[in-house]
Amino acid sequence: MNPTARREYFNSLAPRWDNIPSPPDAEARVRRFLDGVVRSEHRWVLDIGCGTGLLVPGLLADSRRIVELDFALDMLAENRRKHPGARVSHVCSDAERLPFAGPCFDLVLCFGVLPHFERPAHALGELLGLLRPGGRLAVGHLMGSQALNAFHASLPGPVNGDLLPAAKELARLFEDLGARVVAAAEAADSYLVSVEK
Ligand SMILES: C[S@@+](CC[C@H](N)C(=O)[O-])C[C@H]1O[C@@H](n2cnc3c(N)ncnc32)[C@H](O)[C@@H]1O
Repeated sequence: MNPTARREYFNSLAPRWDNIPSPPDAEARVRRFLDGVVRSEHRWVLDIGCGTGLLVPGLLADSRRIVELDFALDMLAENRRKHPGARVSHVCSDAERLPFAGPCFDLVLCFGVLPHFERPAHALGELLGLLRPGGRLAVGHLMGSQALNAFHASLPGPVNGDLLPAAKELARLFEDLGARVVAAAEAADSYLVSVEK
């Protein structure tokens, strides 16, 4: 499926994204994801596939600077409306054609976005290249890979065949890309693979 179709799909969802029903403990699961990966020394954070800014409130502590990046302009516009602060920047870009050069982030988050990449291994390699020494990259979801893949398969349209690899498989890919795996675990209600450079 081509990226334009996916982008239009997410643009069409933007006006109602925050009202799509989520599990009652979704906020606690997001908090658990952030607690597992964010450290006070992470000053510059890149939130890939940020959507309307689910992660922003949890990232704003410690005078952190946050770059919210998404290829769907309507998602980003809603994000900017909700989170206009000076410490939050908004960038409309495809994560697979990034407008950054060299190591400039302490933390890169891919929350709910990896299955939608055209070339995940290539994209993750590029994202690792944006990490400062000691920086961290984390891939997270609010459910395990099997449940998420079944969910995508139940949807009509461009994300229908989008797949999240099992956490252990993704960890092997990161090792092949030269990263050190810090965590690789999934359960029915969570998925986390985090790595350092
Ligand atoms: C499932 S939503 C998750 C949004 C947000 N992270 C959240 O958890 O609420 C996936 C988001 O990733 C964005 N996205 C998908 N593929 C992308 C790509 N190649 N580059 C940038 N953004 C992308 C979509 O536009 C959408 O906003």
